[in-house]
Amino acid sequence: MKRIGVLGSGKGSNFGAIAKAAAAGNLPVEIGIVLADVENAGILGLAQQHGIPNRFVPPGKYRTKLDPAAEQEYIRLLREARVDMVVLAGFMRMLKQPFIEAFAGRIINIHPSLLPAFPGLESWKQALDYGARYAGCTVHFVTLEMDAGPIILQAAVPIQSGDTAATLHERIQKEEHRIYVEALRLWAEDRLRIEGRRVIIRNT
Ligand code: GAR
Repeated sequence: MKRIGVLGSGKGSNFGAIAKAAAAGNLPVEIGIVLADVENAGILGLAQQHGIPNRFVPPGKYRTKLDPAAEQEYIRLLREARVDMVVLAGFMRMLKQPFIEAFAGRIINIHPSLLPAFPGLESWKQALDYGARYAGCTVHFVTLEMDAGPIILQAAVPIQSGDTAATLHERIQKEEHRIYVEALRLWAEDRLRIEGRRVIIRNT
Protein backbone atom coordinates (compact mmCIF):
# COMPACT_ATOMS: atom_id res chain seq x y z
CA MET A 1 0.00 0.00 0.00
CA LYS A 2 1.18 3.56 -0.71
CA ARG A 3 2.34 5.59 2.23
CA ILE A 4 1.68 9.25 2.96
CA GLY A 5 3.14 11.76 5.38
CA VAL A 6 0.92 14.61 6.52
CA LEU A 7 2.02 18.15 7.46
CA GLY A 8 -0.30 20.50 9.33
CA SER A 9 -0.42 23.54 11.58
CA GLY A 10 -3.98 23.60 12.88
CA LYS A 11 -6.94 21.59 14.02
CA GLY A 12 -6.43 18.90 11.43
CA SER A 13 -9.95 18.32 10.15
CA ASN A 14 -8.66 17.43 6.67
CA PHE A 15 -6.20 14.98 8.17
CA GLY A 16 -9.09 13.61 10.27
CA ALA A 17 -11.17 12.96 7.14
CA ILE A 18 -8.21 11.22 5.47
CA ALA A 19 -7.41 9.10 8.53
CA LYS A 20 -11.06 8.12 8.90
CA ALA A 21 -11.37 7.09 5.25
CA ALA A 22 -8.14 5.09 5.46
CA ALA A 23 -9.21 3.36 8.70
CA ALA A 24 -12.60 2.49 7.18
CA GLY A 25 -10.91 0.88 4.17
CA ASN A 26 -12.23 3.56 1.80
CA LEU A 27 -8.82 4.96 0.93
CA PRO A 28 -5.94 2.58 0.16
CA VAL A 29 -3.13 4.49 1.86
CA GLU A 30 -1.14 4.06 5.02
CA ILE A 31 -0.34 7.19 7.02
CA GLY A 32 3.32 6.90 8.00
CA ILE A 33 3.77 10.08 9.98
CA VAL A 34 2.14 13.39 10.91
CA LEU A 35 4.34 16.45 11.46
CA ALA A 36 3.30 19.87 12.77
CA ASP A 37 5.14 23.18 13.04
CA VAL A 38 2.89 24.29 15.92
CA GLU A 39 3.28 22.74 19.34
CA ASN A 40 0.05 21.16 20.60
CA ALA A 41 -1.65 21.61 17.22
CA GLY A 42 -4.97 19.74 17.08
CA ILE A 43 -3.66 17.61 14.21
CA LEU A 44 -1.10 15.98 16.53
CA GLY A 45 -3.74 15.01 19.10
CA LEU A 46 -5.89 13.60 16.32
CA ALA A 47 -2.95 11.55 14.99
CA GLN A 48 -2.37 10.25 18.50
CA GLN A 49 -6.02 9.13 18.70
CA HIS A 50 -5.59 7.24 15.44
CA GLY A 51 -2.37 5.63 16.67
CA ILE A 52 -0.29 7.34 13.99
CA PRO A 53 3.30 8.45 14.73
CA ASN A 54 3.33 12.22 15.12
CA ARG A 55 5.70 14.94 16.08
CA PHE A 56 6.05 18.68 16.59
CA VAL A 57 9.08 19.85 14.64
CA PRO A 58 10.14 23.41 15.55
CA PRO A 59 10.08 25.60 12.43
CA GLY A 60 12.92 27.91 13.40
CA LYS A 61 13.05 31.65 13.41
CA TYR A 62 10.96 32.61 10.37
CA ARG A 63 7.22 33.23 10.35
CA THR A 64 6.21 32.18 6.83
CA LYS A 65 8.72 29.45 6.00
CA LEU A 66 10.84 26.81 7.71
CA ASP A 67 14.42 27.72 8.36
CA PRO A 68 16.84 25.60 6.31
CA ALA A 69 17.83 23.30 9.19
CA ALA A 70 14.20 22.72 10.12
CA GLU A 71 13.33 22.02 6.50
CA GLN A 72 16.08 19.38 6.38
CA GLU A 73 14.64 17.80 9.51
CA TYR A 74 11.17 17.57 7.91
CA ILE A 75 12.74 15.97 4.83
CA ARG A 76 14.67 13.51 6.97
CA LEU A 77 11.64 12.43 9.01
CA LEU A 78 9.46 12.00 5.93
CA ARG A 79 12.16 9.90 4.23
CA GLU A 80 12.64 7.85 7.37
CA ALA A 81 8.89 7.18 7.38
CA ARG A 82 9.26 6.05 3.73
CA VAL A 83 6.40 8.17 2.44
CA ASP A 84 5.46 8.17 -1.25
CA MET A 85 3.48 11.39 -1.00
CA VAL A 86 3.60 14.46 1.22
CA VAL A 87 0.10 15.70 2.02
CA LEU A 88 -0.21 19.31 3.17
CA ALA A 89 -3.31 19.63 5.33
CA GLY A 90 -3.46 23.18 6.63
CA PHE A 91 0.33 23.56 6.77
CA MET A 92 0.74 27.32 6.93
CA ARG A 93 4.34 27.75 5.79
CA MET A 94 5.87 27.99 2.35
CA LEU A 95 8.08 25.07 1.40
CA LYS A 96 11.28 26.06 -0.37
CA GLN A 97 13.39 24.51 -3.13
CA PRO A 98 15.24 21.82 -1.11
CA PHE A 99 11.95 20.38 0.11
CA ILE A 100 10.12 20.67 -3.24
CA GLU A 101 13.08 18.99 -5.00
CA ALA A 102 13.33 16.23 -2.40
CA PHE A 103 9.71 15.25 -3.13
CA ALA A 104 9.34 16.50 -6.71
CA GLY A 105 5.84 15.77 -8.03
CA ARG A 106 5.02 14.08 -4.74
CA ILE A 107 3.52 16.91 -2.68
CA ILE A 108 -0.15 17.84 -2.68
CA ASN A 109 -2.07 20.59 -0.97
CA ILE A 110 -5.62 21.67 -0.24
CA HIS A 111 -6.36 25.35 -0.64
CA PRO A 112 -9.62 27.04 0.46
CA SER A 113 -10.49 28.84 -2.81
CA LEU A 114 -11.11 28.15 -6.46
CA LEU A 115 -7.54 28.72 -7.62
CA PRO A 116 -6.14 30.71 -9.33
CA ALA A 117 -8.52 33.07 -7.51
CA PHE A 118 -7.53 34.13 -4.02
CA PRO A 119 -4.16 32.51 -3.31
CA GLY A 120 -2.55 33.22 0.06
CA LEU A 121 -4.14 33.45 3.47
CA GLU A 122 -7.79 33.25 4.61
CA SER A 123 -8.93 32.79 1.03
CA TRP A 124 -12.57 32.21 1.99
CA LYS A 125 -12.55 35.68 3.58
CA GLN A 126 -10.92 37.15 0.49
CA ALA A 127 -13.74 35.69 -1.66
CA LEU A 128 -16.42 37.03 0.70
CA ASP A 129 -14.88 40.51 0.92
CA TYR A 130 -14.43 40.60 -2.86
CA GLY A 131 -18.14 39.97 -3.39
CA ALA A 132 -17.64 36.73 -5.33
CA ARG A 133 -20.75 34.56 -5.77
CA TYR A 134 -18.77 31.33 -5.45
CA ALA A 135 -16.01 30.29 -3.12
CA GLY A 136 -14.64 26.77 -2.98
CA CYS A 137 -11.55 24.65 -2.60
CA THR A 138 -8.79 23.16 -4.72
CA VAL A 139 -6.54 20.11 -4.38
CA HIS A 140 -3.35 20.65 -6.36
CA PHE A 141 0.21 19.45 -6.75
CA VAL A 142 2.73 21.72 -5.06
CA THR A 143 5.39 23.52 -7.07
CA LEU A 144 7.80 26.29 -6.12
CA GLU A 145 5.27 28.99 -6.92
CA MET A 146 2.73 29.36 -4.12
CA ASP A 147 -0.78 27.95 -4.74
CA ALA A 148 -0.04 27.55 -8.44
CA GLY A 149 0.66 23.86 -9.14
CA PRO A 150 -1.42 21.60 -11.44
CA ILE A 151 -5.01 21.25 -10.23
CA ILE A 152 -6.37 17.79 -9.38
CA LEU A 153 -9.90 18.51 -8.12
CA GLN A 154 -12.01 21.53 -7.22
CA ALA A 155 -15.40 22.07 -5.61
CA ALA A 156 -17.47 25.26 -5.80
CA VAL A 157 -19.37 26.54 -2.78
CA PRO A 158 -22.04 29.23 -3.39
CA ILE A 159 -21.72 32.28 -1.16
CA GLN A 160 -24.99 33.04 0.66
CA SER A 161 -26.18 36.55 1.54
CA GLY A 162 -25.99 35.95 5.29
CA ASP A 163 -22.55 34.34 5.21
CA THR A 164 -19.83 35.34 7.65
CA ALA A 165 -16.24 34.25 7.21
CA ALA A 166 -16.90 31.48 9.73
CA THR A 167 -20.08 30.06 8.14
CA LEU A 168 -18.52 30.14 4.68
CA HIS A 169 -15.31 28.45 5.84
CA GLU A 170 -17.36 25.75 7.53
CA ARG A 171 -19.20 24.88 4.28
CA ILE A 172 -15.93 24.99 2.31
CA GLN A 173 -14.33 22.60 4.79
CA LYS A 174 -17.07 20.01 4.22
CA GLU A 175 -16.14 20.04 0.53
CA GLU A 176 -12.40 19.98 1.35
CA HIS A 177 -12.82 16.78 3.31
CA ARG A 178 -14.68 15.17 0.41
CA ILE A 179 -12.35 16.21 -2.45
CA TYR A 180 -9.10 15.66 -0.53
CA VAL A 181 -10.01 12.04 0.14
CA GLU A 182 -11.17 11.64 -3.46
CA ALA A 183 -7.96 13.16 -4.88
CA LEU A 184 -5.83 10.87 -2.72
CA ARG A 185 -7.86 7.89 -3.85
CA LEU A 186 -7.23 8.81 -7.51
CA TRP A 187 -3.51 9.10 -6.79
CA ALA A 188 -3.40 5.86 -4.78
CA GLU A 189 -5.10 4.09 -7.69
CA ASP A 190 -2.46 5.47 -10.09
CA ARG A 191 -5.08 7.40 -12.03
CA LEU A 192 -3.36 10.80 -12.12
CA ARG A 193 -0.95 11.98 -14.78
CA ILE A 194 0.51 15.49 -15.05
CA GLU A 195 0.69 16.97 -18.55
CA GLY A 196 2.11 20.49 -18.34
CA ARG A 197 -0.35 22.48 -16.26
CA ARG A 198 -3.09 19.89 -16.58
CA VAL A 199 -3.75 16.80 -14.54
CA ILE A 200 -5.29 14.00 -16.57
CA ILE A 201 -7.57 11.66 -14.62
CA ARG A 202 -7.84 8.16 -16.00
CA ASN A 203 -11.24 6.52 -15.78
CA THR A 204 -11.39 3.02 -14.37
C1 GAR B 1 -8.16 24.40 5.47
O1 GAR B 1 -9.29 25.19 5.22
C2 GAR B 1 -7.15 24.51 4.34
O2 GAR B 1 -7.76 24.65 3.10
C3 GAR B 1 -6.39 25.74 4.74
O3 GAR B 1 -6.24 25.63 6.13
C4 GAR B 1 -7.36 24.92 6.67
C5 GAR B 1 -6.86 23.81 7.55
O4 GAR B 1 -7.90 23.18 8.21
N1 GAR B 1 -5.11 25.80 4.09
C6 GAR B 1 -4.57 26.92 3.64
O5 GAR B 1 -5.08 28.02 3.78
C7 GAR B 1 -3.22 26.73 2.95
N2 GAR B 1 -2.77 27.97 2.38
P1 GAR B 1 -7.71 21.81 8.98
O6 GAR B 1 -6.52 21.98 9.93
O7 GAR B 1 -8.99 21.64 9.74
O8 GAR B 1 -7.50 20.73 7.97
